[in-house]
Amino acid sequence: METDNIQAARPYKVHIGRGILPKAGELLRQNHKPCRIMLAADDTVDALYGDTAVEALEKAGFSVCRHVFAHGEASKNMEQLSRLLEHMAAEGFSRSDMAAALGGGVTGDLTGFAAAVYQRGIEYIQLPTTFLAAIDSSVGGKTAVDLPQGKNQAGAFWQPSAVFCDIDTLDTLPAEIFADGTAEAVKYGVLADAELFALLSSGDFKSELAAVISRCVEIKGIFVAEDEQDKGKRQMLNLGHTLGHCIEQYSNYSISHGRGVAIGMSVIAHCSAAAGYCGRDTAEAIDKALTANGLPVLCPYAIEDIAGLIQNDKKRRGDRISLVIPAAIGECRLLDIPMNELSGFLAAAFR
Ligand SMILES: NC(=O)c1ccc[n+]([C@@H]2O[C@H](COP(=O)([O-])OP(=O)(O)OC[C@H]3O[C@@H](n4cnc5c(N)ncnc54)[C@H](O)[C@@H]3O)[C@@H](O)[C@H]2O)c1
Ligand SMILES: [Zn+2]
Repeated sequence: METDNIQAARPYKVHIGRGILPKAGELLRQNHKPCRIMLAADDTVDALYGDTAVEALEKAGFSVCRHVFAHGEASKNMEQLSRLLEHMAAEGFSRSDMAAALGGGVTGDLTGFAAAVYQRGIEYIQLPTTFLAAIDSSVGGKTAVDLPQGKNQAGAFWQPSAVFCDIDTLDTLPAEIFADGTAEAVKYGVLADAELFALLSSGDFKSELAAVISRCVEIKGIFVAEDEQDKGKRQMLNLGHTLGHCIEQYSNYSISHGRGVAIGMSVIAHCSAAAGYCGRDTAEAIDKALTANGLPVLCPYAIEDIAGLIQNDKKRRGDRISLVIPAAIGECRLLDIPMNELSGFLAAAFR
């Protein structure tokens, strides 16, 4: 088992390895006295791992309630948030109880937000079961639901008390859902680690999964420790996300988060190259890494279809927006441009 420490205002541990889920209660019990736990999972994950998680927590002395909802991004909304909060209230959960998110990023974001606002904030733990959740959404404390107007438009910064990442659970992931996580892993490579990028570009890194997850979590931890509230350096983690979120939303979420980010990353890299901020070889290397992992790089929509949605991006400040652009593999920068120049800048990649 590997353990990473996240140095947020309230530090916590990320446990990564095989066979962690059956031990999650025991590990949690080392720093937490028994309490009630609302275990939230979507229907797919509940059927696969719900019993194991309940058993693990109960044998360590925690008392578990199960909350199950339909899988998919469509559940990351205010209605499901309200249902989860009302379930905790109906069960009489108090401020000394906690929530647990068993699943992918949808479950983590929804449950984390519920924990952030239930009785003005209770503790929660993350039990990620997708590659994406393991390396990204379970760490860092960004929680949210989508509004009809856009992705993640209501949320809170609320760090988990611990993350238990059982690599065994990733074995049941369909290939395309595993690939969604690879898009975020490639993002970390482009941002901060050319060696990680090279490994991912081979399209064959499963034998080194624990090391890859640990390295991604470590990179994320560095950005979070410096800028927990996303006011500066942490914004770099949004590489590919400005366009990615618009593509996801415009597709009515038929294009997944990971695929949206893959396309967003490719587009921004080609725009960066066209404007002379990086070499064309950098953009081409990013395309190669993504396609080697079964990810798309071409945007299926016209620029004018999605440009309007960028208005909702959380990196917009009045009439300017910060874009994360690659300078080289392993190095990115923020480019601050006026909103009225955005379409021109992006047009380079929409031929
Ligand atoms: N909070 C953050 O920092 C952050 C970072 C990145 C992404 N996100 C969010 O995460 C979400 C995407 O996360 P995701 O890709 O994990 O999606 P997801 O949670 O919808 O999971 C994808 C699918 O995989 C299934 N699944 C999960 N674990 C499984 C397993 N072990 N075996 C078989 N099937 C399994 C789920 O039922 C679901 O249908 C988006 O909403 C995105 O905005 C948040
Ligand atoms: Zn993401």
